[in-house]
Amino acid sequence: MLVAGRPEGKLLSSQMKEALRYGALSLAVIVGLTLAIVPFAHSLIEQWSRHDVEQRSRLVYNSIQGSVVRAMADDAWERLGSIFEGVAQDDRILAVGLCDEKGGLIEPTRLMPRTFSCEKVARSEAESFSNISSDGRRVLVGAFPIVDRAHKAYLIVLHDLSFIDARSGEAQTFFVAALAGVALTIMGVSAVFAAFLLRGWMGALRLAVEEARFGGPALSSRRERSALDKEIVKLLREAEVGRVPIETGQIEWSPATLQNLLREALPGAEVLIVSNREPYIHNRSDGGVVVQTPASGLVSALEPVIRACGGTWIAHGSGDADRETVDERDRIAVPPEAPAYSLRRIWISEEEQDGYYYGLANEGLWPLCHIAFVRPVFREADWRAYEKINERFAEAVAREAQTDDPIVLVQDYHFALAPRMIRERLPKATIIAFWHIPWPNAETFGICPWKERIIEGLLGCTILGFHTRFHCNNFFETVDRFVESRIDREHGTVTLGGHETFVRAYPISIDWPPKALAAQPSVEECRLQTRRSLGLASDVMLAVGIERFDYTKGILDRMKAVDLLLTLDPSLKGRFVFVQAAAPTRSRLPTYSRLQSEAQELAREINARHGDESYRPIRLVIRHHEPAEVFGLFRAADLCIVSSLHDGMNLVAKEFVASRDDEQGVLVLSSFTGASREMAEALIVNPYNIQEMAEAIGMALRIPANEQRERMRLMRQRVRERNVYRWAGQMLIDAARSRQQRRILDIAEKNQRR
Ligand code: G6P
Repeated sequence: MLVAGRPEGKLLSSQMKEALRYGALSLAVIVGLTLAIVPFAHSLIEQWSRHDVEQRSRLVYNSIQGSVVRAMADDAWERLGSIFEGVAQDDRILAVGLCDEKGGLIEPTRLMPRTFSCEKVARSEAESFSNISSDGRRVLVGAFPIVDRAHKAYLIVLHDLSFIDARSGEAQTFFVAALAGVALTIMGVSAVFAAFLLRGWMGALRLAVEEARFGGPALSSRRERSALDKEIVKLLREAEVGRVPIETGQIEWSPATLQNLLREALPGAEVLIVSNREPYIHNRSDGGVVVQTPASGLVSALEPVIRACGGTWIAHGSGDADRETVDERDRIAVPPEAPAYSLRRIWISEEEQDGYYYGLANEGLWPLCHIAFVRPVFREADWRAYEKINERFAEAVAREAQTDDPIVLVQDYHFALAPRMIRERLPKATIIAFWHIPWPNAETFGICPWKERIIEGLLGCTILGFHTRFHCNNFFETVDRFVESRIDREHGTVTLGGHETFVRAYPISIDWPPKALAAQPSVEECRLQTRRSLGLASDVMLAVGIERFDYTKGILDRMKAVDLLLTLDPSLKGRFVFVQAAAPTRSRLPTYSRLQSEAQELAREINARHGDESYRPIRLVIRHHEPAEVFGLFRAADLCIVSSLHDGMNLVAKEFVASRDDEQGVLVLSSFTGASREMAEALIVNPYNIQEMAEAIGMALRIPANEQRERMRLMRQRVRERNVYRWAGQMLIDAARSRQQRRILDIAEKNQRR
């Protein structure tokens, strides 16, 4: 288990069990006592009663002894008879008589049992007692010697002992009743005590859970902490401590680690991904239907994760052969070569696409969140389309979910409203939203006309992830500015309308080792092949830039830097070429189409300035490149330029490093990428500073092999450790913890209602 060894749920049941155990124990003790005491009490009563009867017999003897002796001396037997009848009036005395020396019975009273015989009376000098039975009754026979001058006889007093049984029975009933009363009282007290205990425990639990999540001062300021509070806080802290080794990277993250994590911390959890871009696009071509892997950092990060976890990926079916490749429920098993999960395609009309994708997402939110100085455009109709498509995806999640508490991974700025919409449909779902692009400061975000709606939509999720702490802070600032909510920056939570969202930085990464590396030839071979295909000599130094043709990537700026470098160091002419592989993207938008023509124009200018018929320093290749081709280029290069003007993370930088198993090659990296925080061994540049970038490229070409190795080794180690499985794993660990805390609160609430 990844969390504390003693789950909090068990604590509750052990407290309750303890209270109930008290009650049961008391009952057992009482039943035991009853069983032990009853026979003992019976014999005690018997003894007491017998002793009592013997005393009475003695009393009778002492009181009539004189009269009997006188009557015997006078031979007045009738007088004796009336004395005896007088004594026998006593209820307890059954009969009285006199036994003479020869065993004859003289003047027995009326009820003298027929079974009585003077023969059996002990003829001793002292009094004696014996038992006889008469008509099923026990009878005590007391014999007292009476001696006068002429006679020796025994006064016989018979007592009916059946009253002892009755008395013992009554006593037993009383005993049992009294002990049952005590037992019930103890049970009642235990129950009341348990109820109090439970109440106190639940209160303590609630506060302790809050404290563990929001921090110590919150609780201690409310009241003094009890020992119970401390224990619960300790347990929850232990759960938190359990995460430390995982977070400090001591674990080798791999698909297997992720699978283990799901199995152990989230058993039976169903995983659903929601994104606009689909991982596999089916397009028609001359040779039939072809499968394309899109140029998307989001897709390259998530695809290995869902391959490891299994589940359903819900995305826009954007390929022109997508409809003909799905089943009747719009699903297709992927990856095509070895299906591991289900891709559920959602259909979006051209018109909807114009509003939701091109409009709100890419003309509004994209430039809003990236500081690349492109003015965001917000149109009411785009917003309505955006709402509608978010609803459509939320509905698809609800339909696809086979459980009521799936883990839903909502991706990116296309789906800011979906988390809340999914929450409304699946209140128990664990919704993790990840914002793949930067989050700007509050001032900038304030430009968006629907800022409150976007924030509220995102706050429907359980966990909201950004690439960096900096973006989390911008988000807190924005929430603080525009929405009434409770923000706990220390613990990274925002509570809106009673629902809490955990906001945290999860730096995204790539598969390690990347799938595309598997079939690559040696670096030497890649170098030769690439140079050959570009018509270059084998010793030409090669710089590469590979990405979507997006204005945030700083493509023009790096071309300008190459231009300046060649001006500053003309000796590089003929010896150095920069290859820019750029995948057309969002080309229907003017900003994107303009960028393409500007870049083509700039390449022409630079090539004209520094090149000739046989030498073109800039090679602009505008087309989609499949991952294998991208990796081939990376391996062939001496350096890679990532000069984004602003980028959430930038996975190209990480892929370049991952491709270089020869530990050679230099990375020139923009300081405005999330990746620059993890890859300090790159040459970090400000892409707005063309001079600096030109110098950095020049320097990169001169870095000796041993230094390249040292830099590359450190970067590779970091990317390997902080791979995409760790990214997903950290979110899933937080999801597991959140589910566990939710369960504790649910149990506590249920118990409180009882
Ligand atoms: C960025 C976004 C992704 C998007 C990708 C490609 O990386 O964060 O959500 O998929 O660009 O853009 P596209 O519009 O082609 O999906």
